[in-house]
Amino acid sequence: MAARLVPGGMALGRWLRRTVDPDLREIARLRHAEAGQLFQPFPDTSEDRYPTLFDALAERLADLEAPRLLSFGCSSGAEVRALRRRLPLARITGIDLNRRALGKARAADRDPRSVYRQAAAPDPGERFDAVLAMAVFRHGELEARRPASCSTVLPFARFAEGIAALDEVLEPGGWLAIGNAHFRFADTPAAANYEADPLRIADAPPQALLYGPDDRQLAGVTEPAVLFRKHPA
Ligand SMILES: C[S@@+](CC[C@H](N)C(=O)[O-])C[C@H]1O[C@@H](n2cnc3c(N)ncnc32)[C@H](O)[C@@H]1O
Repeated sequence: MAARLVPGGMALGRWLRRTVDPDLREIARLRHAEAGQLFQPFPDTSEDRYPTLFDALAERLADLEAPRLLSFGCSSGAEVRALRRRLPLARITGIDLNRRALGKARAADRDPRSVYRQAAAPDPGERFDAVLAMAVFRHGELEARRPASCSTVLPFARFAEGIAALDEVLEPGGWLAIGNAHFRFADTPAAANYEADPLRIADAPPQALLYGPDDRQLAGVTEPAVLFRKHPA
C-alpha cells in the first residue's frame, strides 16, 4: 500500500519480491539464463488439471503393459501424479527447466517408475508412447499484452522447433497432447504425419489467443483439438 505513495515504490516492491522469494528468483534466473530455450516461464499448474485428457490417454494406452510417457514442462509434477494414478505401471519422465518446481515434484513422488530431469528438451535417443506438452507453448506476456505479433516474446519458429524435438522421441502410433498453447499444432511441418483425435476437453477451453507461422495474431480462430496420433509405421 505504502509502495503506491512513493515514486518507483511499486517497481522496487516487485524487485524485492523477485529477490527474496526463491520461486520468483528461479523464474527470473530462467528468463535470463535460458531465454533461448524457455517457453512459458511460469510454472502454474494444479492437481488433475485435465482429467478428460488423462482419462482418454489412459484408455488409448491400456493395451501397453508399461507405457512410456513424457510430461514436457512438468512443473511441480501434478501432471505426472495424475497420469500415475491412471497408469500405475507406466514409466513416466517429467522434464522441466525450473529447479524449484522439479524439487517439489521429486519430493511428492517416490514411485521408482517416475523420473524427473532438468532439461530443455528430451534426449533425441529416448522413445515414448505418449508425450504431453500442456500449457508450455505459450507465454504469460502474450496473454497479458495480446500483441499483434508474437515475434519478440515467443516466435512461431521456436514452437515448431519444440514440436520437432517432441516428434522425434514419439513412437509411430504414439499420442501427442498439445493444449493451452498460443500456436496450432496443425501449422507445424510435423503435423502432416499425425491425425487429430476427436477428443474435446472442457477442462482446457479452446485456446482463443493464437499466432500463425508468420507470427501474426490469428483473428477469430480457435483450436479445439488437443490430442494427435502419429501415423503408425
Ligand atoms: C504453466 S507450466 C505447465 C505445467 C503443466 N504442464 C500443466 O499443464 O499444468 C509450464 C512449465 O513449462 C516449463 N518449461 C518452459 N519451457 C521449457 C523447456 N524448454 N523445457 C522444459 N520445461 C520448460 C516451465 O518451467 C514451467 O514449469
